[in-house]
Amino acid sequence: MIKSHTFTAKFIHWTFSGLYAYGIFKQVGDLSELEDTDLLNFEIVFAILFLVLVMVRFFYMRNTETLLGATEEVHKGHLFIAKTIHRLVYFSLVMLPLTGLLIAGIFKSDIPGMGIAISLHEFSAFLSYVLLALHIGASIYSRLKGEGVWTAMVPVWKETGKPNSEVLNSLESIENKVYDEIESRLNL
Ligand code: HEM
Ligand code: HEM
Repeated sequence: MIKSHTFTAKFIHWTFSGLYAYGIFKQVGDLSELEDTDLLNFEIVFAILFLVLVMVRFFYMRNTETLLGATEEVHKGHLFIAKTIHRLVYFSLVMLPLTGLLIAGIFKSDIPGMGIAISLHEFSAFLSYVLLALHIGASIYSRLKGEGVWTAMVPVWKETGKPNSEVLNSLESIENKVYDEIESRLNL
């Protein structure tokens, strides 16, 4: 039987992707913009809402199988990488609003540490870009291989089985060697 993420899981994944994109595009340009009290208050409310939704999502998804839609048995090394990336994505998504709130706290109370807070905030944004680029790249690669993982979460460009491609087959055999190596090194 083909397994798929629940409607709620898909709804959360895609509405949250929209919220993340909005947060990144509406970003504060520089510190002086926070002189505008309305903008500062809006940023604080947005960051709290974002943080609450990340936590709700994390607890809802915690018991969901990773790479749920896979039609063939998944290597333990593959699962390990996917779970690690998902956890790091959550880490960056928690760090973004937390460090934003730290900037707001330091700005309002006029205490030292703004340089560090901004560096942490910028690092969190950078980390989220790198991880999501990996996440989206891996999802597209999996879709090309027709593994079933894509269709379990993404409502368009549904898979129709495994394609017979020499390039993908040789990439897959390199991939399997990497997973075997990870499994033996980490004793999975
Ligand atoms: C075009 C964009 C995207 C594609 C194609 C995509 C694809 C997928 C797929 C196929 C899964 C299922 C993986 C599995 O079954 O284990 C998944 C899960 C996940 N995605 Fe995405 N994704 C996209 C954007 C995003 C964005 C923007 C975020 C974060 C803001 C994100 C965060 C996650 C997380 C954390 C999971 C793990 C399950 C969960 O906790 O919800 N994804 N994604
Ligand atoms: C979920 C909430 C937030 C998201 C997604 C977010 C996102 C971002 C991003 C992507 C950047 C650009 C970082 C870079 O240059 O690489 C940025 C910069 C900035 N953010 Fe946020 N932010 C959030 C909350 C906040 C909050 C609550 C504040 C403070 C009230 C804040 C203040 C700033 C400031 C001052 C900068 C400019 C830093 C500089 O001078 O380079 N952010 N934010």
